[in-house]
Amino acid sequence: MPSFAIAPLTDHTGAEVTGIDFTEPVDAEARASLAAAFAERHVLVMRDQHFTPDQFKAAARLFGELLQHDKKEHHVPGHPDVYYVSNDEIVNGRRIIPGETFHTDHSNHPRPPKATMLFAVELPSRGGDTQYVNMHDAYRDLPEDTKRRIDGLKAVHVYLSKHSPRPLGQISEESLRDVPPPGIHPLVRTHPENGRKALYLNPVRMESILGMADAEALALIDELMRHATRKKYEYRHRWRPGDWVMWDNRSVMHQANADYDMSERRFLYRLMLKGEVPN
Ligand code: SIN
Repeated sequence: MPSFAIAPLTDHTGAEVTGIDFTEPVDAEARASLAAAFAERHVLVMRDQHFTPDQFKAAARLFGELLQHDKKEHHVPGHPDVYYVSNDEIVNGRRIIPGETFHTDHSNHPRPPKATMLFAVELPSRGGDTQYVNMHDAYRDLPEDTKRRIDGLKAVHVYLSKHSPRPLGQISEESLRDVPPPGIHPLVRTHPENGRKALYLNPVRMESILGMADAEALALIDELMRHATRKKYEYRHRWRPGDWVMWDNRSVMHQANADYDMSERRFLYRLMLKGEVPN
C-alpha cells in the first residue's frame, strides 16, 4: 500500500494519520503501526476519509469488535448499528449536546468500550471542537498521598448518576431495558496495552464510591476532575471535513463544545469498540 505518515499532535496526546484511504485494504504492517500509535498517543486523527456508513463500520473493525450503544434508537436511518451524534435534539425546550461535559464513554457497562470514534459528516462553519485530556499524565502528576488515598477505591457507574452535571437526552423504554447492570470500576486503572495507570472518572455516571459517604466522594471526584482537566493535559481537536477521530476511553476523557451557531448542523457517525473489565 502507498506510504503513510503518523505525526504527533501535542507532546503527550494525539497523532495525525495521513496517506491512508481506509476504504481500501490496510496491510498488517500498517495495522500494527496504527495499533502501536493508538496505545501510545490515545487519540488518532485519520484525515481525508470518505465513508458511507458501511465503509465506516468496516474501517472501525480494523481496530476491534463493535459495541452497541445504549441508545439504540440514535442510529443512522437504515443502519441500525451505526450511531450518530448531532445537535438536533431538543428536550423540554433545552437543546441536548451529547457529551457536553468531560466523561469517558459507557462506563456504566461492566466491560466499557475500549474506544469510540466519530466521522465528521456535517460540521458547523466554526467551533464544535472536541477536547481530550490525558488521564495517564493526570494520574502520574498526582501527589503521592493522593495516589495512596485513591489506589484501591472503586466507584459504582450507573446509566445516569443522580449527581450528573447534565441530562443525557431521551432514551426509549426498549433501550433502557437492555442497559446492563451498573459497572463497579477502580478509580485508577491500568491500560492493558501500554501498561500505564490512569484515572478513570465519569461524573455523568459515577453514583457513589464504595465505602465513602456521598459528600466525601463528590468532593474527591471534584478535586480529581479539576486536576485532570487542566490545559496541560489537553489535546483539542478542531474538526475538518473528512476527519475520522478515534479515542481510547481507558486513557482519555473527552467533551464536546456547544460554542457554535445552532442554526448550523453538526452531525457525525459514531461507533464504539468492545473493551475489557477495568483493572
Ligand atoms: C461524544 O461524547 O462522543 C461527543 C463528542 C463530540 O460530539 O464532540
